[in-house]
Amino acid sequence: MGFDLALDLPVPHVRLAASVCREDGGTRVYDRPQQFAVECANPMPVVLDETFAWRANYLSSLAWVKLVHPRIEFEGVSSMAERVDLYDSAYTNYGSDVYRQVRMETYGEDFGQTSWVTTEESREIPKRLDLKPNSSVLEVGCGSGGYALYVAKTVGCRLLGLDVNAPGVHNANQLAAARGLAARVHFEQCDASKNLPSEDKTFDAVFSNDVLCHLPGRSNVLGEMLRVLKPGGRMLFSDALVIGGMLSHEEIAARSSIGFYVFSPPGENERLIEQAGFRDIHVVDTTDSAAQIAKRWHQAREKRRKELVAVEGNRSFEGLQGFLSCVHNLTTERRLLRYLYCANKAS
Ligand SMILES: C[S@@+](CC[C@H](N)C(=O)[O-])C[C@H]1O[C@@H](n2cnc3c(N)ncnc32)[C@H](O)[C@@H]1O
Repeated sequence: MGFDLALDLPVPHVRLAASVCREDGGTRVYDRPQQFAVECANPMPVVLDETFAWRANYLSSLAWVKLVHPRIEFEGVSSMAERVDLYDSAYTNYGSDVYRQVRMETYGEDFGQTSWVTTEESREIPKRLDLKPNSSVLEVGCGSGGYALYVAKTVGCRLLGLDVNAPGVHNANQLAAARGLAARVHFEQCDASKNLPSEDKTFDAVFSNDVLCHLPGRSNVLGEMLRVLKPGGRMLFSDALVIGGMLSHEEIAARSSIGFYVFSPPGENERLIEQAGFRDIHVVDTTDSAAQIAKRWHQAREKRRKELVAVEGNRSFEGLQGFLSCVHNLTTERRLLRYLYCANKAS
């Protein structure tokens, strides 16, 4: 696959998203520069046609590339909120001091978090799930793996962590080996909006911290979580995108700038959890602590602006700061709510 993001663009400040159509008929949508950088090795020329559709011919003609939705800024005025990278840089730079310091200052304890989970909530989750040393546990959206390893170490259980992000999963497996937990804890790259890669009735508990809002098809996701649970197993997930009040299209765009998101009306998660077949649904409002995390994360990054800009670049740094400010405003004003949902599979 030949493509180079370091393009000499004839229009300034064009943000790129692209669908790559392969000769075999498959299509892959790319919306992050890092994905291009990893997956596309060689540079290729790109031209802008009159309709503002970017087109480029693949070097060996095995595929063609059409770049869609160019976001064009004129004199600093953006037509949409720009796409902002959070996970790739957080997981790729997991081990760097500045990222570690930001996590420590944000959460108080470093589990490699990229979420709104407070340390208090992190400590409660194993109890809510009634984890025991002989439990078999699934984490959906484990990020760089630090929290899964904390759970496995403190409880003594076995755990499978799934995440779509390759640097996150790579980091997680390296940490498992380095901490001597690889025999009990394993991480796999997987798109959790598809069917989960486990047999029916495998796990005593399934949990997912701030991930389901990234996945299309919540009914199917919940159905899969139920399927892989043993009878009597426990399920827990959090959703920071429950609509609590009026939102402008700019706020929705800024809140969604780090990736695909699903916003839920109040009560919809409860309805879908029940419809999937879970019982004993318990809901906790954690909106205030999410607001606090957003504020501390923003402040911790601001204090280290120079070092972070050196790693992320100015545009990404500012983009993520804007995202964190947006989360803080919307949760403080309770126009977006975060809830924790716990439920059981019938015995
Ligand atoms: C808010 S972060 C939470 C990560 C971790 N649970 C934590 O508490 O720090 C959301 C995670 O969901 C993952 N994710 C997004 N889309 C996904 C998908 N389709 N399948 C699996 N994981 C996904 C991201 O890569 C990211 O690690």
